[in-house]
Amino acid sequence: MAMEGRFHFYEGYGMKEVTFPIRVMYELGIETLFVSNASGGMNPEFRIGDLMIITDHINMFPEHPLRGRNFPTGPRFPDMHEAYDHKLVALADEIAKEKNIRVMHGVYMGVQGPTFETPAEYRMYHKMGADAVGMSTVPEVIVARHCNIKVFGISVITDLGGFDVPVKVSHEEVQEAANAAQPRMTEIMREIIKRS
Ligand code: HPA
Repeated sequence: MAMEGRFHFYEGYGMKEVTFPIRVMYELGIETLFVSNASGGMNPEFRIGDLMIITDHINMFPEHPLRGRNFPTGPRFPDMHEAYDHKLVALADEIAKEKNIRVMHGVYMGVQGPTFETPAEYRMYHKMGADAVGMSTVPEVIVARHCNIKVFGISVITDLGGFDVPVKVSHEEVQEAANAAQPRMTEIMREIIKRS
């Protein structure tokens, strides 16, 4: 099952709406969720167009997707130790090496947007432990994990922030870098599906 796009919190949807597709996928019996997004890189080793395999996340959304009465798919206080499946990360590394695709690892910070970050915000998020920042994914991953669905995620670094020289970001640049990186990303995901 594949989604064309997603619902973003910044568009005005509530967290229950943003994560509803995951609930539907769970009911249909999916076992692994592949997520992708565009993000701003704050790790100085990153370049525009890089693929970052998401190894963990930081949830900075102002509302939690599991707030309210607990769904019987999982516990009230779900463990989030391995939100992104270690075995799938290792498999992706192996595939990327074989196919000569440059992949980075990193922590994704989910924020509400819709503003891109100020230089000070990029610096702060990097100090907080994130390598990339974006406006999606974290709510869906939380709900998927609550449903015990395995997760694999890739973030395309579409712009850079937090360095000494402030760089402007536009939606067009983000889309261009994401489109350019997409074939490399789908190649890795297609191969994971084949092998697992
Ligand atoms: N910040 C937040 N969201 C984003 C960015 C960014 O720099 N790039 C793409 N999505």
